[in-house]
Amino acid sequence: MSEQAADTAVLVEERSFPPSPEFAAAANGTQDLFDRAGEDRLAFWAEQARRYVKWDKDFEEVLDWSDAPFAKWFVGGKLNACYNAVDRHVEAGIGDRVAFHFVGEPGDHEAVTYADMHVRVQRAANALIDLGLRAGDTVAIYMPNTPDAVAAMLACARIGAPHSVVFGGFSAEALRTRIDDVGAKLVITGDGLYRKGAPYALKPVVDEALASGETTVENVLVVQRTKQEIGWVEGRDHWWHEALEAADPTHEPEAFDSEHPLYILYTSGTTGKPKGILHTTGGYLTQAAFTNHVVHDIHPETDVYWCTADIGWVTGHSYTVYGPMTLGATQVIYEGTPDQPHKGRFWEIVQEHKVTILYTAPTAIRTFMKWGRDIPEQFDLSSLRLLGSVGEPINPEAWIWYRDVIGGGQTPVVDTWWQTETGAIMITPIPGVTAARPGSAQHPIPGVSALVVDDEGRPVERGSAGYLVVTEPWPSMLRGIWGDPQRFKDGYWSRFPGIYFAGDGARLDEDGNIWISGRIDDVMNVSGHRLSTAEVESALVSHAKVAEAAVVAASDEVTGQAICAFVILRQDAVEEADEVGEGAELVAELRNHVAHEIGSIAKPKKIMVVAELPKTRSGKIMRRLLRDVAEHRELGDVTTLADASVMNLISAGIASGK
Ligand code: WT7
Repeated sequence: MSEQAADTAVLVEERSFPPSPEFAAAANGTQDLFDRAGEDRLAFWAEQARRYVKWDKDFEEVLDWSDAPFAKWFVGGKLNACYNAVDRHVEAGIGDRVAFHFVGEPGDHEAVTYADMHVRVQRAANALIDLGLRAGDTVAIYMPNTPDAVAAMLACARIGAPHSVVFGGFSAEALRTRIDDVGAKLVITGDGLYRKGAPYALKPVVDEALASGETTVENVLVVQRTKQEIGWVEGRDHWWHEALEAADPTHEPEAFDSEHPLYILYTSGTTGKPKGILHTTGGYLTQAAFTNHVVHDIHPETDVYWCTADIGWVTGHSYTVYGPMTLGATQVIYEGTPDQPHKGRFWEIVQEHKVTILYTAPTAIRTFMKWGRDIPEQFDLSSLRLLGSVGEPINPEAWIWYRDVIGGGQTPVVDTWWQTETGAIMITPIPGVTAARPGSAQHPIPGVSALVVDDEGRPVERGSAGYLVVTEPWPSMLRGIWGDPQRFKDGYWSRFPGIYFAGDGARLDEDGNIWISGRIDDVMNVSGHRLSTAEVESALVSHAKVAEAAVVAASDEVTGQAICAFVILRQDAVEEADEVGEGAELVAELRNHVAHEIGSIAKPKKIMVVAELPKTRSGKIMRRLLRDVAEHRELGDVTTLADASVMNLISAGIASGK
């Protein structure tokens, strides 16, 4: 870092933005919550559970940790998550309130009230029952980001069938792996969705996924969105609208145990096989609603809240479906990309729907920065009163830009750290309480105990770096990995026995703020999407021309990290490539192959064909050195390489453009 850059970094770190007195006076989150949680953590959570969630039967015990790390929260309690998200608001007389302002990418709008949702989830629940679904059966959801996707998730919750949503950008291959792992009996999909200015087919991907071999899937429900031509398997495929139409309009929600599985969501770990993260009902709903209320500061009567994440990710689960709907909030849900049909689309939506709270990702913010402030400046963004960030570290420059350009230099910005595994926000400023520090997620929320520890698991001194851990169980924590209890124990609870290791590095500053630096394992974060190096490597080596592959994440100005792959070709492929000089074509072919195996989010930004990979004497690939190459840095220590000349070869090959 140059001296000047170092200076700015220090300056930036010291800037502090306390909430305005007006904001603090009206805020949901208060210092009092920290005090009460500090006095009695479990009593605090019991209070939140009874405040935010309607229970059919009250719980008897707050936490059962006797089978740690498998937690049971709000033991003995019974509830229905769909009832909490929908019916209760209709019963409370606010059924006319808009639950969703749906904005389709081509420009179509639909306002869906809580009463409309009530009709939809009851019919959908009955449609699922008509297809033979029962509590405990699993359902895969592969849908456009629309209110129907929300209704599909809630209908599953209503009948106690855990859903597993697969992001619409994943490939047939990736979808199939998830369907098989979860043993889905039903897939709910759409004919297609609108993305990047064109219809994009979904149903053919489902058909491809189900085409080969025995499957647990008995039926496929298809929501009509794009009306494009699609294939149809008689007896297996059914139109969603016809099934709902034919179904009984009333459905009594059943009360399920607090620990009844609500959903399984797949995320990348350090191996090639994605992990099915299991969340259950009572604790999850409590923490999702509580954090949405105090961190996003939602006032359901007046706010228009917009979380830009797709429902295919955990952010969509907790902060579009379960949190805000449990609160009875009014939201915007948008189907498409931020640059369709123009780069001001987000701001046009904010202006049109008078959005007051916006929750998005640093990668999006950095993209908007790159496009220039004159784009948002063409729109009236004065309705915004709070901004949130999630998914990866936000650099101070992006934080300041977000607050200045989007927030008019006025709004609090909450940088929220959490994970698919944590289910809900864990570390964040509380907007009416905390003086915000750009670039730092700052402090654990009331009721959560997180620390930065050293190699031995001891809390680090202020001013030092270490590993981020959570030392006490929390209500929305994962209850395990679907079908693999051992991987749950090994992956999260063994690095520091008895405490949860998140996989992130962090630093504690002189004021006690936590700065999360990112993953320290082989998990990459590309535009806030989580991918493992191993899964991209195995996609590459499944290509006939590839003998070996090593993948690293290189830092990237816009996407945070970018995927960089080093591949060794099979001998016959090398000869062929030399003959026809097809270097660029081969790289394109490999990138498309990865998209086909996983999805386009996993396409490497760069693929370098090399003759050898740097390995230690024990055969371990030294990714550190590859990262140096990918980031155009001078090579670090090469003395542990089995063959030190390998790096010369790689560097020479790259310099010559080979
Ligand atoms: C990983 C979890 C949380 C929902 C979306 C991502 C990184 C997340 C932050 C933040 C720094 C962050 C971490 C974490 N991360 N939020 N505010 N500051 N890093 O969920 O896909 O499960 O990824 O995202 O590295 O471990 P996920």
